[in-house]
Amino acid sequence: MTKKILVATEKPFAKEAIDLMKGVVAKHSGYKLELLENYTDAAQLKDAVKDADALIVRSDKATKEVLEAGKNLKIVVRAGAGYDNIDLAAATACNIVAMNTPGQNSNAVAELSIGMMIMSARNNYNGKSGTEIKGKSLGIYGLGNIGKLTAQYAKAFGMTVNVYVRNYEKYKADIEELGLNYCDSVAKLFETSQYVSLCIPASAETKASVNYDLLSKMPKGACLVNTARKELIDEEGLKKVMAERSDFRYASDVAPDCAAELKEKYGDRVFFTPKKLGAQTEEANINAGVAAVKQIIRFFDKGDVTFKVN
Ligand code: 3PG
Repeated sequence: MTKKILVATEKPFAKEAIDLMKGVVAKHSGYKLELLENYTDAAQLKDAVKDADALIVRSDKATKEVLEAGKNLKIVVRAGAGYDNIDLAAATACNIVAMNTPGQNSNAVAELSIGMMIMSARNNYNGKSGTEIKGKSLGIYGLGNIGKLTAQYAKAFGMTVNVYVRNYEKYKADIEELGLNYCDSVAKLFETSQYVSLCIPASAETKASVNYDLLSKMPKGACLVNTARKELIDEEGLKKVMAERSDFRYASDVAPDCAAELKEKYGDRVFFTPKKLGAQTEEANINAGVAAVKQIIRFFDKGDVTFKVN
């Protein structure tokens, strides 16, 4: 029986990516690719997943209800890095393998992070004189694929790059190779970095952890760049620091809940993308989309569970 791979994306992949994904499927017998793009209601996803054997999502919510609706579902792949949108416990309970495609869209996100830093340094290009990022300090919070690339690019711009990771031993070689200054606490990272880029996943531990205590420690001319998840920020703490410090700026790929208030009060000290854009490049879509299809085919044909996260 032909296996149905459902690509369910509220925010569709670039056409070029879909064409290449279809090309991979066409080279393997026994698979078909179906698209559910721009859907607006979870009910549409639940309906489309009913007869799917595999599901590919982006930030789409693979909830317990969605996973349970997929009666034939054996695998769900998050075409991207963060899998906080998949109910992993439900996936495991339903015997569904959950995977991500680590590294495939990292370059796009790292480029956006550098871009947002420059944009913020130039007052969101509003015509007023700005500053340069050369010679400034950047704190990278988390050193996964995105953190490493952001650090590398920031070095090329002449920034001093600090880093905090929970597990120093695991990243020791990377920190040395990239020539980064290791901070042994999150507080130290924020204290010593004019710019901070968040490169950590959203988890029970990290949600709302970027709070007033940390933000208020940042040096003069502080700029927080968030290409990770809005949930990392304690918004009350952010609002407090924005109110107390006229030198504090916030740039985020995806608006916080308090976006309208911040925009109204602080204008070009803040910048928010209209929807999550970090991975919204043709290249990132191709890399992550094609990787997701290949992982699914390897899973069914060979039992390969590399990149399983549950
Ligand atoms: C990720 O976790 O891979 C990024 O946040 C990209 O998310 P997106 O695929 O929804 O753009």
